Amino acid sequence: MRMIRLGILGSGTGSNMLALLEAIRAGNLKAEIVVVMSDVADAKILEHARNAGIAAEWIDCLGYANRFPEEAQRQTALRLLDAGVDLVCLAGFMRLIKPVFLSMYADRVLNIHPSLLPKFPGMKAWKQALEAGETEAGCTVHFVDAGMDTGPIILQAKVPVHADDDEHCLHQRIQQQEHLIYPQAVRLMAVRLGFPLWWWWITDQWADHR
Ligand code: GAR
Repeated sequence: MRMIRLGILGSGTGSNMLALLEAIRAGNLKAEIVVVMSDVADAKILEHARNAGIAAEWIDCLGYANRFPEEAQRQTALRLLDAGVDLVCLAGFMRLIKPVFLSMYADRVLNIHPSLLPKFPGMKAWKQALEAGETEAGCTVHFVDAGMDTGPIILQAKVPVHADDDEHCLHQRIQQQEHLIYPQAVRLMAVRLGFPLWWWWITDQWADHR
């Protein structure tokens, strides 16, 4: 029986990708990251993937600065299917996913967002929380639908907002929680997609006694 195969899409630093990789290496997540893709050719996330020996690939958005054109989405989903990806994890991917992609990965695309959705969808959610004078912020893992940060919620974690917080320190506090709940959410999805926990437990026991 094989492990769940992940494809990760990101545009930036890739700390959530690293958190998933760390959970896998620590034995806390029975999964395999098979490909990491980015719309930003020199994104750190691709460098991290290459360093970890994971296929790292640039997504050609056909010259558009912010849009993710349908043909590019179709090609990306085809590439993920070709790699045998079971579950797509958006990790700081900054372009909107369209129905053409979602129809090829129905209910199998997750996103992590740095707010307690439905509050503060969109860019720099931590900044939006500070500007709104919130005393509590957090992060959310949710299914992706065709809206912006709108799909059904899987897991959330809260953090306090301190009076002297600036954008950087609040985002960092939120990210510490992101790195915990994303692996947990992927574990839940693995079970939902039929990768049974009992099999992991038996193979772990067996490995321990060899
Ligand atoms: C994370 O904070 C993630 O929640 C956010 O981008 C950051 C990526 O960090 N995503 C969004 O805002 C999506 N709407 P990372 O590259 O270090 O994982």
